[in-house]
Amino acid sequence: MSTSGRFDGQVAFITGAARGQGRSHAVRLAAEGASIIAVDICDQIDSVPYGMATPEDLHETVSQVEEAGGKIYAAVADVRDRATLETALSEGVARFGVPDIVLANAGISPQRASEPDPQQVFIDTVETNLVGVWNTVSLVAPMMIARNEGGAIVITSSAQGLIGRGGDGSGAASAYTASKHGVVGLMRSFSAWLAPHSIRVNTIHPTGVHTAMVEHEDMMAWVAADPDRAATMSNPMPIDMVDVSDVTEAVLYLVGESGRYITGVTLPVDAGFTSK
Ligand SMILES: NC(=O)c1ccc[n+]([C@@H]2O[C@H](COP(=O)([O-])OP(=O)(O)OC[C@H]3O[C@@H](n4cnc5c(N)ncnc54)[C@H](O)[C@@H]3O)[C@@H](O)[C@H]2O)c1
Repeated sequence: MSTSGRFDGQVAFITGAARGQGRSHAVRLAAEGASIIAVDICDQIDSVPYGMATPEDLHETVSQVEEAGGKIYAAVADVRDRATLETALSEGVARFGVPDIVLANAGISPQRASEPDPQQVFIDTVETNLVGVWNTVSLVAPMMIARNEGGAIVITSSAQGLIGRGGDGSGAASAYTASKHGVVGLMRSFSAWLAPHSIRVNTIHPTGVHTAMVEHEDMMAWVAADPDRAATMSNPMPIDMVDVSDVTEAVLYLVGESGRYITGVTLPVDAGFTSK
């Protein structure tokens, strides 16, 4: 039984939806009436030190969306693999229609104290966090233009998409910051392209978020490896990290009627991190 809400009848395409922020966005949008097209790699990238999402995680997203009264089509797809991503998107569109909302959320953050192969870490991070966003938006936007009913796209950047604090020359820190700045450029270019079609494009920039991406031993070891890093990476507001729901609230504001004339904007959800 679908609940009624501000996204009734809409379709949301979400990458990296098996867990974390992507799952939170999917469940909230579904609870407010949207049908969800969810993709996730559900596999490990070798250079990533923490466990990435599993097929069971994606099943859990499906269960939570359905419990919220929503419909979902979920598929395993790697945002780096354009052909597979296109197949998953097409299947979802065949079920629910062209997306009104696109959340390019999939990403990796492979910081660790000692990198076996910094070059590979750099390449994998840029391919996922930057090329993956290009693949996502460039596949779905032409469908949205052809439908001619507008829409809203949010790309998940990071506080590290606005600043370079904590940079140490490692493959992971360099690539994460470069890729998250890179998506700001993509967002601005997409925003110019899509505004005449009433399709809005914005980025969000969270500080640390309580998810499995950062709450693991290798990340703790990376922070601990430099005595000044913990202070450097702290938020001015007295919290260590925000919750996934804080990011979801910002996403819903941007993609909803509330954000109807907001495009080309970089919105921090960062407890003051980028302004300290
Ligand atoms: N957690 C944080 O502190 C934080 C802070 C700022 C920004 N972010 C960004 O938020 C987004 C969501 O991350 P999260 O915190 O929910 O972490 P997460 O690791 O729980 O979720 C990321 C999801 O993306 C998926 N994914 C990774 N590479 C993929 C690929 N190539 N193709 C398809 N799916 C892929 C993962 O399997 C995972 O399910 C990411 O873009 C991340 O960089 C996270």
